[in-house]
Amino acid sequence: MEGCDYRTQCEPVRARFAKLKGREVALSVENLGKVFRAPDGRAVVALKGIDVATHRREFLCVVGPSGCGKSTFVRILAGLETATSGVVRVGGVPVSGPGSDRGMVFQGYTLFPWLTVLRNVAFGLEENGTPRREAEREAGQWLALIGLESFAESYPHQLSGGMKQRVAIARALATRPRILLMDEPFSALDTQSRARMQAYLIEIWKKIDITIVFITHDLDEAIHLADRILVLKAHPGAVAELIEVPVPRPRSHAQALGPEFRATRARLDALIHPPEDEAEAEEAGASTLVTRMTPAGDEVE
Ligand SMILES: Nc1ncnc2c1ncn2[C@@H]1O[C@H](COP(=O)(O)OP(=O)(O)OP(=O)(O)O)[C@@H](O)[C@H]1O
Ligand SMILES: [Mg+2]
Repeated sequence: MEGCDYRTQCEPVRARFAKLKGREVALSVENLGKVFRAPDGRAVVALKGIDVATHRREFLCVVGPSGCGKSTFVRILAGLETATSGVVRVGGVPVSGPGSDRGMVFQGYTLFPWLTVLRNVAFGLEENGTPRREAEREAGQWLALIGLESFAESYPHQLSGGMKQRVAIARALATRPRILLMDEPFSALDTQSRARMQAYLIEIWKKIDITIVFITHDLDEAIHLADRILVLKAHPGAVAELIEVPVPRPRSHAQALGPEFRATRARLDALIHPPEDEAEAEEAGASTLVTRMTPAGDEVE
């Protein structure tokens, strides 16, 4: 498709972004900073001067090198961690702690093992004061949405990793948050389960009024899912770039071979793995040593 790389967008993609930006801002972050105190008393600047705003029903992915502050960022959005500076707003209102306007799904399996699937999903509703019978009825509807109604009476240990994460998504959505925060939710899954979960998530996202902030290490996953990708750089964690993904929707994995996907991937690689990366250079040096462990002339290729 001509004129459709990560900067110059083709018409359907331009129209999609115009529509997206016409919606109100759901979540905004201004000048966000976080300094941790290491055990030896040293200050660790995890995040510095982060500015970003997501629009209602946007799918925002956050990527960046390990340790750049992705989890810290999303935990601050969730109110599980306090910022050292800056402000987070949901629907224009500053937030300072956890709230039912934000749901969170973690990387690890965090369902309550002693509760059935149905009761896991109903848990937050009951916490919010919904009577048990009503909470279970609503939880049943969420289970139907994720296709697990027949597992309502099962316990978490009876489910596969992908199923557990589907229940975790239903549990996070049951209290009707405006924002769904996800920290590498599929990274423990095998490739096929991960692809299935991506498809589930997109189906859910299309059906309900939710804005998603999704952290991932996997650059292809980010391109497959996101409207925009917030790229962070490390030490301190700061915004490197905010990329509008030019890949048309609906998306398929076959698009990974297309020019828009490849151009976006090349840009992400350039931002996250710059050629002057010293660690990479060191690694390359180490692998030369390893290749010399085979006798000369005994090449396999
Ligand atoms: N509770 C803490 N106390 C001290 N330092 C912390 C704490 N939590 C995080 N850090 C530091 O803050 C920085 C960012 O950590 P964070 O876990 O947010 O990065 P990340 O991008 O999520 O990493 P990964 O890709 O490995 O998940 C790191 O240098 C980390 O060591
Ligand atoms: Mg992390």
